[in-house]
This record gives sequence, C-alpha cells and structure tokens, in this order.
Amino acid sequence: MRKKLIVGNWKMNGSLAANAELLAALKAGFDAAQADLALCAPAPYLLQLQAALQGSGIAWGAQDVSAHEGGAYTGEVSAAMLRDCGCRYVIVGHSERRQYHHESDDLVALKAQRALAAGLTPIVCVGETLPDREAGRTEFVVKRQLSAVIHAVGHCCSEIVVAYEPVWAIGTGLSASAAQAQAVHAVLRAQLRAATGQAERNRILYGGSMNAANAAELLRQPDVDGGLIGGASLKAASFLSIAAAGL
Ligand code: G3H
Repeated sequence: MRKKLIVGNWKMNGSLAANAELLAALKAGFDAAQADLALCAPAPYLLQLQAALQGSGIAWGAQDVSAHEGGAYTGEVSAAMLRDCGCRYVIVGHSERRQYHHESDDLVALKAQRALAAGLTPIVCVGETLPDREAGRTEFVVKRQLSAVIHAVGHCCSEIVVAYEPVWAIGTGLSASAAQAQAVHAVLRAQLRAATGQAERNRILYGGSMNAANAAELLRQPDVDGGLIGGASLKAASFLSIAAAGL
C-alpha cells in the first residue's frame, strides 16, 4: 500500500509574510498519519521553507531545476543548490514550463536525471491538451512524455514520482473524473512496470483542479497515489482537507 503524497505547487504566488502565515497554519494542522505532505515554492522562498519546516515532517521542494550541473548559466538554479536548501523534491516538466518555456521531452528528461544525481526526487509531470484528448491521443502523449524520462534515468526509475496533469484541467475548475484519472494512471503504471519490472513503489499523483470537494473520489482510485495541487494549496484549510481526504 503506497502512502498518499499531497504536494502543493504554489506556482508564482506568495510573499514572505503570506508564506509565514500559511506555513504556520499547515504545521499546526498537519497529521502525518493522513498523508505525506510537500510544498513546492518559488526558489527565493526555499530557505524560508527550510527554516519553518525543518523537523515538522512536511517536505519542501522547487518547481524547476536546471539541466546543467553548474557554471555560466545566468538565471538557472542547479539541483545541488536545491539540495543545499534542504529540498527533497523538484517538479520537472510542468505543462506551464512545457508551454511557456518550450521545454521538450528530452530537456525534461535531463532535468529529472540531474535531480536524481543530486539526491532529489523529481516529480515528473505529464499530461495531454484538450485537442490531444479530443483526438484520442491522450495515451500516446503521456507515454511519449514519460518514455523520455524512463530512458534517461534507467535503473533510478523506481525513485521518481509521476504527476498526471491533464492540461485542460489545470486551473480551470474542471477536474478529470475519477475514472478518467484512473485510466491514465493505470497506463502510466503499466509503462513503468514494463520498463523496469516493477512499479509498485512509484507514486503517481493526479493534478488539475483537485480540491477539498473532489479529492476523496480521486484519491480512492487504486492507481491515484496523491495529488499535485495548485490553487487549493494556497489556503491551509483546503490543502489540509485534501490531505485528510486521502485516508
Ligand atoms: O501543479 C499543479 C497543477 O498545475 C494543478 O493546478 O490545482 O490550480 O488546477 P490547479
């Protein structure tokens, strides 16, 4: 039985003051028996998370990482730097980065490789657009995206977390149905199993308008091992309700 993992992706939101309030409320309400919790914050706030969350049982991480190890890459943040800030996780291949920063499958795979080499757990995002889904290409797209990572990380595959995030469900209020999510999660798990001989350790998260109202049904699906939460992670009450819904 995989313990649920609920990850907040704050995206480009927050301030020192607002974060302090949110972190205090999350620490007060966190129940480790319900689910594992992690927060992925903008890079300038990672030390704030480290100071606030150390010893709390809540993990933290970043929303992106450089594909380069270090050196003359202005504006980039390396995996080693994230480890230095105590990060456990890093999101790679979020659809917003694929869309607005033109990140390719190969670049995402390199980032996952860098993360693993530095001792971070990459949360590898895959997901189809609405035209992809309407054209019946969902399975093809998510398998292509995951395949690049599987080939790049090889035997480290059991260490990755996968997040299925249908692009049409992100920030729209229109979540995938539990059946739609389960169907894709089962495909992804089968792909991991075929590549590595096992997939029981991999946690596969669902993301896309998950909230306190729909979380329980989504998290009840056998291959949905948690959530990657955007909007609903910015309020302690809704984020903690999602964590409680996974029990
Ligand atoms: O990384 C999180 C996802 O993009 C989901 O965002 O919960 O605001 O739809 P959302």
